[in-house]
Amino acid sequence: MGDDEESVDRESTDRPPLADQRGVDTVYGASEDSHLLAEAAVEAVEPGERALDVGTGSGYVAASLAEAGADVLGTDLNPAACREAREAGIPVVRANLLDPIQASAVDLVAFNPPYLPSAPETEWGDWMETALSGGEDGRAAVDPFLEDLSRVLRDGGRAFLLVSSLTGIKAVREYAGSQGLDSSIVAEESFPFERLVVLRLL
Ligand SMILES: C[S@@+](CC[C@H](N)C(=O)[O-])C[C@H]1O[C@@H](n2cnc3c(N)ncnc32)[C@H](O)[C@@H]1O
Repeated sequence: MGDDEESVDRESTDRPPLADQRGVDTVYGASEDSHLLAEAAVEAVEPGERALDVGTGSGYVAASLAEAGADVLGTDLNPAACREAREAGIPVVRANLLDPIQASAVDLVAFNPPYLPSAPETEWGDWMETALSGGEDGRAAVDPFLEDLSRVLRDGGRAFLLVSSLTGIKAVREYAGSQGLDSSIVAEESFPFERLVVLRLL
């Protein structure tokens, strides 16, 4: 399909901007955000520590932690993501956020959440939506994650959360603070339309 035809098609179907982020895949492939998070988490993990990759997708962040010697588990809502990560050698539980994790069980948590703000009328309800969309304020998955995080961390445990300027870095840090979590920015990268940071949460 040529460029002209494509733009006509988009107008006639009134496709939402999120469509621009999609290919044909149903599993989020490792991207700039995944690499930024993986680097920060790998730098902080000790061999033998128990690590959890929430929303593991293809398993890229989990595999990076495993290569660094961590004992890793992934969670994801998307069954295709669970399959793909398992095929990459990552043990995965199909679950919401931290729900199946026992209290004080984890040394390090990594989460690259769905974070794009999106209005309900533009949502498609497919698995790529689950990977990308963070609801109206971009924080639909981030807030419940922060509410439950302290429960699963061991003494000395820490978490690494990818946050975009589109989601509101200040708002996420304030909400983390309201949940008793200290945050600091340990990595960042700027792009034309957003700034990505990795928050370390204790
Ligand atoms: C932005 S993608 C990140 C994937 C991968 N961690 C990476 O960095 O490449 C977000 C992932 O979180 C998963 N996800 C979204 N909401 C979730 C939830 N409530 N519980 C578990 N996983 C979730 C999506 O299916 C998707 O795989």
